[in-house]
Amino acid sequence: MITGAAGFIGSHVTRSFVTKYPNYKIIALDLLTYAGNLENLCDIENKANYDFVKGDICDSDFMRKLFVERNITDVIHLAAESHVDRSIADPFVFIKTNVLGTSHLLHLAKESWDSKSGDHIFYHISTDEVYGSLELNGGFFNESTAYDPRSPYSASKASSDHMVRAWHHTYGLPIVISNCSNNYGPNQFPEKLIPLFINNIIEKKALPVYGQGLNIRDWLHVEDHANAIDIVFHKGQMGETYNIGGHNEWKNIDVIHLLCKLMDQKLDRKNGESAQLIKFVTDRPGHDLRYAIDASKAEQTLSWKPNYSFEEGLSKTIDWYLENKSWLQNVTTGSYKEYYKKQYLDRTKEVNR
Ligand code: NAD
Ligand code: TYD
Repeated sequence: MITGAAGFIGSHVTRSFVTKYPNYKIIALDLLTYAGNLENLCDIENKANYDFVKGDICDSDFMRKLFVERNITDVIHLAAESHVDRSIADPFVFIKTNVLGTSHLLHLAKESWDSKSGDHIFYHISTDEVYGSLELNGGFFNESTAYDPRSPYSASKASSDHMVRAWHHTYGLPIVISNCSNNYGPNQFPEKLIPLFINNIIEKKALPVYGQGLNIRDWLHVEDHANAIDIVFHKGQMGETYNIGGHNEWKNIDVIHLLCKLMDQKLDRKNGESAQLIKFVTDRPGHDLRYAIDASKAEQTLSWKPNYSFEEGLSKTIDWYLENKSWLQNVTTGSYKEYYKKQYLDRTKEVNR
């Protein structure tokens, strides 16, 4: 079972598993919150080894039934509330989904599996934001960096990581965790920096840069992350944590200028036109200065390495958004919510007739 399968990273992981492993029976579980979009999975929806289930990880009765009826053997857990700005505006749904939802799932896995058996794995997908914020020359996050989360989002993910390890140490649940840096790529909801700015440049709307744009993020293409998840799932050692990142630190303002330059070229606009949309706005409260990952453990012990350079990945990402304007339009107008009703509820009617 892959939870959060209709979200940004979950949809890439689901597509990759369904395509690469025809013998796996994949249950793609998602509540379809504002961030879940079944259009992300439309190209694999008829595959024999793919089954979408709409459900809430916080609904333990529903999830218990699913575990038993579908004989869930392994979990790759991505379902979460994922945006820092939303966590500042409304922290409680983050605590509910990320902390309580994850804890419910862990407990079900413990109930359902003979815990110490090596036949199962509960793989928890987490973020580098649990480690807090680095100074400009403050080194890198590695797997033994002390947790120091500073936003409601990162605190909820840190709590869920602790719960995962607690279920491992206390009950012997077979787990593995990876903590990844900022992802970008196709299908990302246009609330995060890169897709929001791509959308705003297309629509000639302002580009709101928080503070002076000097904060640093370590960017990784989503397909490189999905590949890391595949490798950790198959080769990761039980109970271990792996940091995933592309050694690719960028100041926000530099990302934005590169994005503006590429968009001007691709939209045939005058050089410098998109950059005129940049607007410096009030900083995000508690804005972490810098994230940077030391991924040497995953590179050395699992032979994982990223394939995309940032310039190439960003250019391809822009191309994807320009070639899939209807995806962006469906999301920004809200009509993407109709996809589930059209594809799935109609089919239910047919079955019931
Ligand atoms: P996303 O917001 O795009 O997707 C999250 C998905 O979870 C959505 O499809 C949503 O419908 C689903 N969901 C939310 N609440 C649910 C619930 N109660 N029950 C079932 N499904 C529910 O997020 P994303 O960017 O794809 O991130 C996926 C995971 O990876 C998260 O756990 C996130 O913390 C982690 N992560 C993200 C990044 C990043 O840069 N985006 C980096 C590192 C780690
Ligand atoms: P975001 O994509 O929200 O990811 P995270 O907060 O998890 O790192 O933001 C990436 C960086 O871009 C972060 O430093 C905040 C900044 N940012 C802006 O300057 N303006 C925006 O409108 C957004 C959404 C983010």
